[in-house]
Amino acid sequence: MALFEREETDFGTDVGTRALSVIAVENHFVERVYEKLASSYDLFFGPTLHPGRLVARDRMGITPYPSNCHVTGIDLSSSMLDKARERVAREGIRNVRLLEMDAAKTTFADDTFDIVYAPYLISVVPDPVMVAREMRRICKPGGKIIILNHFRSANPVLSRVERAISPFTVHIGFKSDLDLPAFLAQAELRPESIEKVNVPKIWSLVTCVK
Ligand SMILES: C[S@@+](CC[C@H](N)C(=O)[O-])C[C@H]1O[C@@H](n2cnc3c(N)ncnc32)[C@H](O)[C@@H]1O
Repeated sequence: MALFEREETDFGTDVGTRALSVIAVENHFVERVYEKLASSYDLFFGPTLHPGRLVARDRMGITPYPSNCHVTGIDLSSSMLDKARERVAREGIRNVRLLEMDAAKTTFADDTFDIVYAPYLISVVPDPVMVAREMRRICKPGGKIIILNHFRSANPVLSRVERAISPFTVHIGFKSDLDLPAFLAQAELRPESIEKVNVPKIWSLVTCVK
């Protein structure tokens, strides 16, 4: 006889209710931060965060500029969208539309997209759980929901540092202490995989299937 007992993961008993971060932000604050950051964003967050984007693209199973699909990009910041529009024009890409929209409350119908991908977004928004629910709503059944983000470390020392600096990192565009187990529990996401990406490997690529 073989008896298998699932190992209990020590995420704490309050994952369903605890605060995801020590810091709260609102959309207008985030918008102001990214209006200022847009011109230098690629310099600071372009190459450093790019390895994670490449792994995400692999998990999506797409080529760099897939011509056999329509791509919709949304962002809250008009300045960030202007940068994206410049790039789309520069690369001569035709199958991309870019829209100013809040990821927590989009105007898309239920079950619209085959892949819904949030790169470096979820620790920026006021309500990560609301964004995750919206991602699931607009994803087709069987489609992929992919979240690429930095989350608070499981290492107690690092975790304490990330909590302490979060009130400061919001001014450069993100909360450094977003709690992954609590986020997954509250968003009711059951990932197929969670991979550590970038250098150092403190960002996570979370892949789910609806
Ligand atoms: C860290 S940047 C990530 C940019 C880009 N996706 C990348 O891969 O580097 C976060 C982006 O999320 C946008 N953002 C913040 N809140 C948002 C919201 N509620 N809805 C849509 N976009 C939002 C910001 O304007 C900014 O462009």
